[in-house]
Amino acid sequence: MKNLIERDKKVIADIEKIRFFPIAPIGGEGCYIIDENRRRLLDFAGSWGAAGLGYSHPAIQESISNASQSMASSSLLSYASEPAILFAEELLNIVPGNTSRKVWFGHSGSDANDTIVRLAEAYTGRKRFITFHGAYHGGVSGSMSVSGHSSQQHNPKRDGVVYLPYPNPYRPQFEENLSENILKMLDEIFSTTCPPNEVAAIFIEPIQSDGGVIVPPEGFLKSIEMRCKKYGILVVVDEVKVGLGRTGLMNAFEHENLEPDIVCFGKALGGGLPLSAIVGPTEIMDFAPAFSIMTASGNPVSISAGRAVLKTIYNDNLIYNSMKVGKVLTEGFQQLSNKHNLIGDIRGKGLAMGVEIVTDRFKTKKEAKIETAKIAYRAYQLGLIIFYVGMKSNVLELTPPLILTENQAKEGLEILDKAIEDVSNGRVEDSVLLDYKGW
Ligand SMILES: Cc1ncc(COP(=O)(O)O)c(C=O)c1O
Repeated sequence: MKNLIERDKKVIADIEKIRFFPIAPIGGEGCYIIDENRRRLLDFAGSWGAAGLGYSHPAIQESISNASQSMASSSLLSYASEPAILFAEELLNIVPGNTSRKVWFGHSGSDANDTIVRLAEAYTGRKRFITFHGAYHGGVSGSMSVSGHSSQQHNPKRDGVVYLPYPNPYRPQFEENLSENILKMLDEIFSTTCPPNEVAAIFIEPIQSDGGVIVPPEGFLKSIEMRCKKYGILVVVDEVKVGLGRTGLMNAFEHENLEPDIVCFGKALGGGLPLSAIVGPTEIMDFAPAFSIMTASGNPVSISAGRAVLKTIYNDNLIYNSMKVGKVLTEGFQQLSNKHNLIGDIRGKGLAMGVEIVTDRFKTKKEAKIETAKIAYRAYQLGLIIFYVGMKSNVLELTPPLILTENQAKEGLEILDKAIEDVSNGRVEDSVLLDYKGW
């Protein structure tokens, strides 16, 4: 094991790492990751949500193995490809709407959001965007330019981007009338520094994931959508992390009855293979040929994995499972919070959950970054993979495979119970974190 970790340190760039503990998986099965010592670890992180069906799912294996037999139409750019056409038709079916829409395929949430930024600007002729503090829409220039996450502080931002606070009920940015006050801020911005007719689009995460798994107050997103639509501002919903059944509905935006102009998918869409998609109005998606091209986009292997993912979500009732097992986890964490003062808040929908770790939950709610990192580390030692997110790195994030069972949820809760207890009792040394700073 040491060998792989040491070699990784020597040859793999830190700029593509967010490491929490020393692990080099050599396999995976269902909701378990198998490490280099053949230890099976239950996975509550699901590879940041990419492993929506878990690992080595037979439906994905079969689909990609079949697709690899014929790599015709490996590039969608200059040929029509049946798998891509079928998958586009299927994706259009899962996004409500009766206007004419089309689909674009890419490799990653980052390139999809990047394309949307360029497209929205080109189509509307407007240069400005609205986004939220804490938003994460990707790691390439365009998608970074509409993100507001602390991990991207080294990257210069795009001119004219307006950042709004993402309403956080646990740490309200206003003492009262949280949603109304943020909407008022927007109105004021529109009437002073940023005329709405200069804004191309607003980027919305239905749950702000990397910013701390923040669930906005009910109705906030709908109000902001209505404000923006009034001025012809395109409403873009980023379903990359919380979409595709994870929240207990196929699309997370349906909880709030949003009617986005443009929707973006990634992560779980490819079941672990690179795949992203945009669904948007035909007149925008047809803006100009070759506007957003990548040679291997829509390749049959990734597309077939995507088709298997969607089919399995339906056939195996995984949307219902997300809701059911999410409830078990929520109740389990509520019980743990009676015991552990480090647990400040439990939130989320279905299998998109966050558990905020704080040092003094009754008074200051101070973000407990070190304790959070230690809980993740200790959980790993005890057999559970869990990552953390948040602008202050103190929110345990749960995005497990949607196939997680109730028993597995309970197994993970037991491990976390012990991990939190060990951290609270000072049984985890600071030194374990030396190489594992997370993000
Ligand atoms: C909401 C959201 N959008 C976009 C992205 C970018 O996706 P990727 O890193 O797969 O390109 C992420 C990644 O964490 C995300 O959480």
